Amino acid sequence: MKKDLLTLRDLSSDDFDSLFIRSFELKKRLGLGITDQPLQGKTIGLIFDKASTRTRVSFEVAMIQLGGAPLFLSAKDTQLIRNESVSDTARALSRYLDGLVVRTYSQDLLKELAAEASIPVINGLTDLYHPCQVLSDLMTILEKKERVSELKIVWVGDGNNVAHSWLNASAILGLNLVISSPEGYLPQERILELAKQDAGDSIRVVSDPKEAVRGADVIYTDVWASMGQESESAHRKKIFKPYQVDEALIGLAKKDVIVMHCLPAHRDEEITADVLEGGHSVVWDQAENKLHMHKAVLEKYISH
Ligand code: CP
Ligand code: NVA
Repeated sequence: MKKDLLTLRDLSSDDFDSLFIRSFELKKRLGLGITDQPLQGKTIGLIFDKASTRTRVSFEVAMIQLGGAPLFLSAKDTQLIRNESVSDTARALSRYLDGLVVRTYSQDLLKELAAEASIPVINGLTDLYHPCQVLSDLMTILEKKERVSELKIVWVGDGNNVAHSWLNASAILGLNLVISSPEGYLPQERILELAKQDAGDSIRVVSDPKEAVRGADVIYTDVWASMGQESESAHRKKIFKPYQVDEALIGLAKKDVIVMHCLPAHRDEEITADVLEGGHSVVWDQAENKLHMHKAVLEKYISH
């Protein structure tokens, strides 16, 4: 039976481990010039209803490197824009394709698509979650720190889709995760509470960002207004200002703290330009590792 990757809750800790092992193998083999092409003859569709640079290109290149073919389907150029139902779209596309990567607004729409499709559906970001991002970010942490457990990982800023996926990962892997968001901008309560139920004391909310980052191994931030929230940008800038990741804030963390951002970044809003470009930042490795992790994900989900 086909499997979908709609949230990190779809994975067991063994699944995480096998994806980490395989993504590192694939990265190493690519560096040695060895080609692995297990997906020859396979085609995936990428239905994107929101802008993307990294996720789109890394999935497309991942599929090509694995010997298969990606088809980019801008949602506005399909019959979805003319109100063809998600169900009919899913059933038709299942007759041509071996898998779908989808970036859209609604997690419910993604679920509906996956329920109707007979091929694997992978979440390339919704308003609620960004699971593949956090998988590749965990790979980057492993690469830099050689472990993820016991590290203090601090989310600073908006309790958004990426933060929700961090909570899901923490629930499954038992990560030491601190969420530091302004009041009213915490992650959704049901996602936070469920993660805390599963992870216990290892997930904490600490509103004051200075207190939150004390002794941190990893500081992670993201934009203050995600795609679809642009009209709130000016209002959010005022509320989030104390949550800017700047030199003073990272000075409170461990000396070897790494600073992460899924990108795209707004310099001098959620993160100062000098921190983004500074010695603690690993954002370009994060961007690269999306390619290696997406190859591991495609290998796992697209049947050979
Ligand atoms: N990090 C990330 O998902 O980037 P894109 O929006 O460019 O895909
Ligand atoms: N939280 C951001 C992530 C972009 C990769 C957004 O949803 O716009």
